[in-house]
Amino acid sequence: MSSRPRPVILTGDRPTGPLHLGHYAGSLLARVSLQHSHRQFVLIADTQALTDNASDPGRIAPNIVEVALDYLAVGIDPDVSTLCLQSAMPALAELTLLYLNFVTVARLERNPTIKDEIQMRGFGRDIPAGFLCYPAAQAADITAFKATLVPVGADQAPLIEQTNEIVRRINRQADRQLVPEAKALIPEVGRLPGADGQAKMSKSLGNAIPLSASDEAIAEAVRSMYTDPGHIRASDPGRVEGNVVFTYLDAFDPDRAAVADLKAHYRRGGLGDMALKQRLTRVLQAMIGPIRERRAELARDSAAVIDMLRTGSRRGEEIAAGTLEEVRNGLGLRRL
Ligand code: TRP
Repeated sequence: MSSRPRPVILTGDRPTGPLHLGHYAGSLLARVSLQHSHRQFVLIADTQALTDNASDPGRIAPNIVEVALDYLAVGIDPDVSTLCLQSAMPALAELTLLYLNFVTVARLERNPTIKDEIQMRGFGRDIPAGFLCYPAAQAADITAFKATLVPVGADQAPLIEQTNEIVRRINRQADRQLVPEAKALIPEVGRLPGADGQAKMSKSLGNAIPLSASDEAIAEAVRSMYTDPGHIRASDPGRVEGNVVFTYLDAFDPDRAAVADLKAHYRRGGLGDMALKQRLTRVLQAMIGPIRERRAELARDSAAVIDMLRTGSRRGEEIAAGTLEEVRNGLGLRRL
């Protein structure tokens, strides 16, 4: 038997709504396939969710179970991966508080993800301090488990960069490696655009297809999908680049050769949007159907889902508390 330890993965989501196709392409698929070759921790980041939902904290609690259901339904296996809840692991909060001393306010304000999100959420000058500081909390999440790989969407890359700066700062201070640096694992397909052609699929933008979508909802979302506004008649040559239907086919259609043929046909002219959309509808229905059914079945016993999270969080807290003590000791801090 090999005694080489498997590399550790930490990843997670804010529980602010059920997950959607963007998450599926962006991170869930990778988590399902990586869980066997890695030691994987999947974090439901309810504490982080509060950083941009302080005016509606009640929306977080019900979505913890929703997100857990999504994880289980896509095939993240709780016997293989550790699924855990951020607020159930207090060592993460304490590690965050410690890390906040190893990052400057100016550096937090320069973080491109934070800057984008401040814009998107319309915080203006009224930025909650917790929000500005959440990259330090994310650094705590990642390093508490000594994760070296973080499968996330491209928008999260600056957060991993910032994590590594904190890691280097801490290690330099201790004069040895207390926690390892991590690498972002960005999926090849990149960020999935919204059905309306906007840069990002997001529940708050109203352009998302949830993993619990019915066949009718999928068909409707595809019907209204953005294609090439210059492609009026089926006989016109059409553009493939920036055409959301093709972006989705690239991400989800298992028949690569058929998609390549369709692209050539579309560019040449003679392929209508209707035929194209029918194909995407079938592809998405075949993919989401089994996920939706599995999800509905699991949802019948939400107590079991919460139990599973409790078990995972207990395991997670043990590891996080161990790292916290190592970091404190490494920095020469002492407990009573
Ligand atoms: N920031 C992630 C999101 O917005 C959630 C998250 C919290 C996370 N902690 C993490 C992702 C650690 C990767 C690693 O959904």
